[in-house]
Amino acid sequence: MAYSFKLNSLEQYNIAYKKSVEDPEGFWGDIASSFYWRKKWDKVLDWNFTEPKVEWFRNGKLNITENCIDRHLGTIGNQPAIIWEPNDPDEHHRVLTYRELHLKVMQFANVLKNNGVHKGDRVCIYMGMVPELAIAVLACARIGAIHSVIFGGFSAQSIADRLQDAHAEFIVTCDGAFRGNKEIPLKAVIDDALVQCKFVKKVIVLTRTRTPVSMLKGRDVWWEDEVRKVETMGNPDCAAAEMDAEDPLFILYTSGSTGKPKGVVHTVAGYMVWTTYTFVNMLQYNQGDIHFCTADIGWITGHSYIVYGPLAAGGTSLMFEGIPTWPDAGRFWDIIDKHQVNILYTAPTAIRSLMSFGNDPLIGKNLSSLKTLGTVGEPINEEAWHWYDENIGKKKCPIIDTWWQTETGGCLITNLAGVTPAIPGWATLPMPGVQPLLVDEKGEEVTEKDEHGMLKGNLCIKAPWPGILRTTYGDHQRCFTNYFATYPNLYFTGDGALKDENGNYRITGRVDDVLNISGHRIGTAEVENAINMHAGVVESAVVGYPHDIKGQGIYAFVIHNGAHADENLSRQDISQTVSKIIGAIAKPDKIQFVKGLPKTRSGKIMRRILRKIAEGEINNLGDTTTLLDPDVVDDIKNGRL
Ligand code: PRX
Repeated sequence: MAYSFKLNSLEQYNIAYKKSVEDPEGFWGDIASSFYWRKKWDKVLDWNFTEPKVEWFRNGKLNITENCIDRHLGTIGNQPAIIWEPNDPDEHHRVLTYRELHLKVMQFANVLKNNGVHKGDRVCIYMGMVPELAIAVLACARIGAIHSVIFGGFSAQSIADRLQDAHAEFIVTCDGAFRGNKEIPLKAVIDDALVQCKFVKKVIVLTRTRTPVSMLKGRDVWWEDEVRKVETMGNPDCAAAEMDAEDPLFILYTSGSTGKPKGVVHTVAGYMVWTTYTFVNMLQYNQGDIHFCTADIGWITGHSYIVYGPLAAGGTSLMFEGIPTWPDAGRFWDIIDKHQVNILYTAPTAIRSLMSFGNDPLIGKNLSSLKTLGTVGEPINEEAWHWYDENIGKKKCPIIDTWWQTETGGCLITNLAGVTPAIPGWATLPMPGVQPLLVDEKGEEVTEKDEHGMLKGNLCIKAPWPGILRTTYGDHQRCFTNYFATYPNLYFTGDGALKDENGNYRITGRVDDVLNISGHRIGTAEVENAINMHAGVVESAVVGYPHDIKGQGIYAFVIHNGAHADENLSRQDISQTVSKIIGAIAKPDKIQFVKGLPKTRSGKIMRRILRKIAEGEINNLGDTTTLLDPDVVDDIKNGRL
């Protein structure tokens, strides 16, 4: 497959960028023409950020799976679409060609239909990283059901909250999942969630670990049995549902600064065009390249750059079930060697973690197939960047630093591998179609440079790109309030950034109460709510602090009722509570018991002070005169962990 929209030089990037700003409709109309449409659009773009309303490719009709699978069958039907590497290196890997993927997606789409799933229904998918996860996602898209994948690390309570919000009546899960030396009992977690969700009609359970599970008559069915049923029905086809360009494709829940995660909604056509365009350009993908994105499909990175982007581009996507450090810290390098991987796209946390094992795990691993490296999800520190460059890329692979968000569908700011210059720690230039703007607290464009010649401000985007979120599920007002109300007529990212004189951007991190732990987004309010549910807790405040491996760690200041004298045990109990309410990813790294929290006279917690204490900057707390009780601060400083 030749990519008519691939940018091969800095000059081509500059021309494309200019056109995308001056004539977005002409620009995106041309790109969208290289996809398969049942019916073309009447109008490329209609939008305002006041409602907000964003409509791309109005009245266009298509199905994303025809673009991700069917249209490749005549040319590359026998090419691997998905290569799956299991958790246990001694188990056989699997390869699904486009032809095989086509059959399996149609088969499971028929299973969904047989189980009563219709176009527009929400299907929750809670699985480990097995090929059937990608199959389930695509099968939903095939029949127009809206998938909502929940990362396998979330707790029963988190699942129940999401099921209720989306009113999802169908679930696809596994008996269990393998991750490193752990077996995660996914179905049992679903069972716990469903105690609160009686509206769920069907649970389809794939066999993976063969952990004993309870199967409720009438509600729970085995994936394998259901597939057998549709096989005996004879006709293996499942026509793709004709979707409107703006029909929802999926919901993905993500954390914000309030306590309740929100369901970000992406729609069919814009998301497809955006993920394909960015995938091909940022990674400079060539037909036949083997692309290994190490994310989990439970996060946006997996949706966009394991499933939709690579498949729509007719690529080969490698999916890995396990973790980078099991059975040893050489696992990624083994996989690259074994499958002759050309592109590695991973998170700075993984790089820092692997770097901490030194270079022994690299001995004897042939990484010469690698052509391009990428990072995503959090800022990369220069030390990790150079380690990646020297030891993994052997100084011959361009590294891209891709900045984006669940809400943006695909990458917004990055260098293009080998085409536009890389700067360690900088995401650099906006993708064509993306118009960033740095504003101050009042929403005015920042024009004054700091002492280093940089502009510094809150990062906003001026106009829609095809992959922008359309709404937050069931609550459009919330979408407006979260993203479009802070600064009128701008999409506010929640991130701060620097811009140099050449137009390069460096993301400095969140400016709201959202943490980024190992590249995973977690709201401080969510963690506080969970901590406060512990019987012994009176009140708590959570902030982030720099963590060598995870980027940020969670530091919790907790007022305890003192019922249990053993502080360590209390800490463990609190962590366990957070694990139960949210999931293990949100467990605090540090819990400091305090007598009081620094509050203003109006009762607002001064997180700025807590942040400084957590960071260890105890002699530089700034103005504390507005505090209700300044003594509280000394007390906290003295007890710092
Ligand atoms: O703060 C930014 C950070 O991750 C946030 C988005 O998180 P999430 O929606 O979970 O999506 C992660 C995967 C795209 C952003 O607001 N972030 C993401 N990529 C980068 C980054 N920070 C710095 N550099 C990046 N490359």
